[in-house]
Amino acid sequence: MKKTLIISYTPRENSNTKRMLDFFIENNQDKTEITFVDLAAEAPDLLLKENLNLYVNRNFGGVALTEEEQSVLAKNDKFRDQLLATDFVVLASPMFNFSVPATIKAWFDAVIQSGKTFTYTETGIKGLCENTKALILMTSGSDFEIEPYKSVNFATPFLLTAFDFMGITAEAINKFGMIQYADKSEQMIEEAKENIRTISYKWYV
Ligand SMILES: Cc1cc2nc3c(=O)[nH]c(=O)nc-3n(C[C@H](O)[C@H](O)[C@H](O)COP(=O)(O)O)c2cc1C
Repeated sequence: MKKTLIISYTPRENSNTKRMLDFFIENNQDKTEITFVDLAAEAPDLLLKENLNLYVNRNFGGVALTEEEQSVLAKNDKFRDQLLATDFVVLASPMFNFSVPATIKAWFDAVIQSGKTFTYTETGIKGLCENTKALILMTSGSDFEIEPYKSVNFATPFLLTAFDFMGITAEAINKFGMIQYADKSEQMIEEAKENIRTISYKWYV
């Protein structure tokens, strides 16, 4: 059975993004082996002085770390290994301040690792997760499909680029304008469910 890694940051009570994710899970839990990562319960370590230097020395400098040093990186390496072990990723998150929440950025900072999820070749950078596919489920309060916000959606380009950097083909189901079009939010969730059905069918045939 193919494996699916769910990266969820949906902390708000009655989260609309979580409703989309819950539908994905209900629809597919008998078709795939799911690993659920709740970033609202436990976030990856931020790259601070100690762990950043250990990571750089190990992954770029080829330095062999001691067991104790390795243990400092263990938490973020676990997130990386979950990604390396999966066939599919579903990342569910609201937009925060025109971008992704810090927990989601911290997850990418944990899993984008030189020599593991990407590498350098003679012709440039190559993603090492080429057999993995990703789905992004995102909601926002305002409408980012039109200006003045369209050009300041830093979340979707970041997510697609970061997945692509690791060789992962990603697609996004965005339901933007949940507050702006509050009277249409139920309709938007229903549309998202339809989109999720289509992708699920494609993934788990
Ligand atoms: C800290 C914070 C920052 C937010 N920043 C934005 C933003 O930049 N643009 C926007 O349209 N909505 C923003 N919102 C609104 C949420 O993105 C929106 O309500 C979203 O649908 C919430 O998802 P949820 O229902 O899964 O919690 C923000 C909300 C919070 C709590």
